Amino acid sequence: MSNEELIETALKAREFSYSPYSKFKVGAALLAKNGKVYTGCNIESASYTPTNCAERTAFFKAVSEGEREFEAIAIAGGYDGAPTEYSYPCGVCRQVMMEFCNPKSFRIITAISKEKYIEMTLEEMLPCGFGPSNL
Ligand code: THU
Repeated sequence: MSNEELIETALKAREFSYSPYSKFKVGAALLAKNGKVYTGCNIESASYTPTNCAERTAFFKAVSEGEREFEAIAIAGGYDGAPTEYSYPCGVCRQVMMEFCNPKSFRIITAISKEKYIEMTLEEMLPCGFGPSNL
């Protein structure tokens, strides 16, 4: 799957964002090594703490269905309407990525649109990360 297709999927997933408190809508599309794509959106809570980011929603859906190997994730976030700025994964989501992904090859694509995006590896996004190989 191309970066553009993955971004398009993240933008569609963003439409399902449940974010009545922050009004910041995030969508993610996680590409597994076998070609399957798992989508996610942010899901907020009136008590705030249980809020789940779009990236983790996608990871937890995938892992709970037996997926363990991942290639890339596309992320699109912003207030109402089309995204206007790049939305980067929070620290907690980066750590979840570290659990399941190879930091040198896993690609994180943060997108404003299909044409405008930044691609980085997990290692670039989380330098000196701590993961399963450290234990
Ligand atoms: N959010 C994500 O979904 N992903 C991130 O990586 C950053 C933040 C969500 C959580 C919350 O619903 C809203 O954006 C504002 O923080």
